[in-house]
Amino acid sequence: MGKGLRLGVLASGRGSDLQSLIDAAAEGRIASRVVVVISDDPGAKALARARDNKVLAEAIPPPIEGATDARRRAHDARIAEALDRNRVDLAVLAGYMRILTPDLVRKYYGRLINIHPALLPSFPGTHGQRQALERGARLSGCTTHYVDEQVDHGPILLQAALPVTDQDTEETLSKRILAVEHQLLPRSVHLIEQGRAKIEGHRVRLDPDESWTRKYPTLPGVLYGHGY
Ligand code: GRF
Repeated sequence: MGKGLRLGVLASGRGSDLQSLIDAAAEGRIASRVVVVISDDPGAKALARARDNKVLAEAIPPPIEGATDARRRAHDARIAEALDRNRVDLAVLAGYMRILTPDLVRKYYGRLINIHPALLPSFPGTHGQRQALERGARLSGCTTHYVDEQVDHGPILLQAALPVTDQDTEETLSKRILAVEHQLLPRSVHLIEQGRAKIEGHRVRLDPDESWTRKYPTLPGVLYGHGY
């Protein structure tokens, strides 16, 4: 798998995690490249970033009519169609704010990853950083994982931890975590494109090559888990 994968990124918001993949590809840190960015929000900054970087940008807003379930299924069917049409090998949820339907998850299982701003299985769902602060966690961080049918639950790829201080606000903690996300996400793609990540039940077995902590600058105070 050394030649790189065709990445499809799903993003609802500002798209800085998307940018970390675009940059890693441009700098040759990963062999894969982003071929399409899909957003449920036509106004998402992530789509503008895609266009700025000459990556295909597709807005796929959810249908307005129909029962909730049927609407969600129809929406995800359109997303699957866009991923297939662009021959996406690996789909990446990078700040995608909708819960995927089981149909889409099953179709892409093992080829679909997510990044989450907390140390899973703690603090799944939205506002992982706020939840960590509210519960007085002394460590937080971020997690990349394969997506399964439960939210923020599938087999974990990579994690990195950092200290939470009493002075932290949601904003300061989110900012520090985000900087680490921008390292973990490209490295996760790197491991997958090299065939170095294998799902075994609910775990991922990693067979990492030279650590990125030796190849690229690290951030102070961050503990990079196995595989980074
Ligand atoms: C990140 O914190 C990510 O972990 C979460 O959503 C945020 C996306 O940020 N899932 P951005 O839109 O990529 O800047």
